[in-house]
Amino acid sequence: MVRVSQDLLYVSGGTPLSGEITVRGAKNFVSKAMVAALLGETPTVLRNVPQIRDVAVVTGLLELHGVRVDADPVAGTLHLDPSAVESAHVADIDAHAGASRIPILFCGPLLHRLGEAFIPDLGGCRIGDRPINYHLDILRQFGAVVDKTDTGIHIRAPRRLQGTKIALPYPSVGATEQLLLTAVRAEGITELSGAAIEPEIMDLINVLQKMGAIISVDTDRVIRIEGVDRLVGCTHTALADRVEAASWASAALATGGDVYVRGATQPEMTTFLNTFRKVGGEFVVDDDGIRFFHPGGPLRSIQLETDVHPGFMTDWQQPLVVALTQASGLSIVHETVYENRFGFVDALRGMGATIQVYKECLGGRPCRFGQRNFFHSAVISGPTPLSAAEIEVPDLRGGFSHLIAALTAKGTSAVRGISLIDRGYEHFTDKLAALGADVDRP
Ligand code: EPU
Repeated sequence: MVRVSQDLLYVSGGTPLSGEITVRGAKNFVSKAMVAALLGETPTVLRNVPQIRDVAVVTGLLELHGVRVDADPVAGTLHLDPSAVESAHVADIDAHAGASRIPILFCGPLLHRLGEAFIPDLGGCRIGDRPINYHLDILRQFGAVVDKTDTGIHIRAPRRLQGTKIALPYPSVGATEQLLLTAVRAEGITELSGAAIEPEIMDLINVLQKMGAIISVDTDRVIRIEGVDRLVGCTHTALADRVEAASWASAALATGGDVYVRGATQPEMTTFLNTFRKVGGEFVVDDDGIRFFHPGGPLRSIQLETDVHPGFMTDWQQPLVVALTQASGLSIVHETVYENRFGFVDALRGMGATIQVYKECLGGRPCRFGQRNFFHSAVISGPTPLSAAEIEVPDLRGGFSHLIAALTAKGTSAVRGISLIDRGYEHFTDKLAALGADVDRP
């Protein structure tokens, strides 16, 4: 049984998830494509947009900046008209942004449109410090002036931003997006080396190219952008949310279930699918989605390292760790993207999992966090039966993994703070119901 009351979810586990659900556009693409619409002189239409809180947050932020947003949430369509872009007050931005880090990506487009931008202190999931130094350095290199004030950060462009040559110290997704959203309308050529090349970034490049940008991507993490004077709106269908798809796949595996994820696509999930198979999960890919299932028999322990694309995504890690508690033997997971992404295992331990976290790099190679005081490696010993517990959702992906643990456990768990999961998982309680979890929604 699953019962929802305000921010609390009661989950009675022990039943394999079985059935079909649909995933729509990727949270970590759609929010950026919405920001890209600011750069056009005419409206942009986005399709396959999920009904999640991050989309609502960016909608609010765009409206604050004078963008007219017409949404058809059921069809998954957003019509964004940026013809009357204006400045917004930092206090309003702060109030609307909530925990989102998206305001930082408004900077480039607003500097081009208005010559200035304000951003509040930024939130996001509590999975590490999550600094914005790369973003501010990029904006400065284009010629922007950055002033930190008591209320936030004020950024100005005294003249048209100038193309530049930038090398990222780490292939940051957000910093690469910052550069793209700024370079497309800067004067001259920009060259970025050490770029992130996640599929969500490639789809953002698709959007920008449709809008009139000139962008080339080399095989060695180098992206070149020739700035143009004007961009126009476009129509684009968002790529599927591969994090959500992998989350449901992990839920199917952990509960011994069988879930068809309509909308899931293979090319963006190759690395996940390899790992899923090594753990003992099976999958069948067809034209409309991917069926993930537990074929019976014991699951196998693995050694895993998270990495930037094309490696194993950090966002896939937390849901899969729950499935690893059900695998025979010792699994080792080395988190190399965020220094603090194992906080969620405390709750799993409370439910009966045997997980130790270490400061050392237990993967095949040392990472940025090895010589520092971060518990960024985990050893999971399984299989361990899980039992129901009271759990507080720590962050988006950790929260979903707690949900999987509750679905795997015998008895009724109380999961608090589930509204955090609404940030990135569309109608997840309805989907649980569709997969046979007994939902009671008073
Ligand atoms: N970093 C810096 N300085 C910066 C920016 C990043 O040191 O100015 C560091 C971060 O601290 C982190 C690493 O670089 O250690 C990677 O961060 P990145 O910039 O790549 O992450 P992001 O753009 O903030 C996006 C997703 C995350 C996802 C990561 C990695 C969005 C809104 N968020 O974050 O998604 O984990 O890329 O793929 O796109 C999630 O969906 O739950 C989520 C956290």
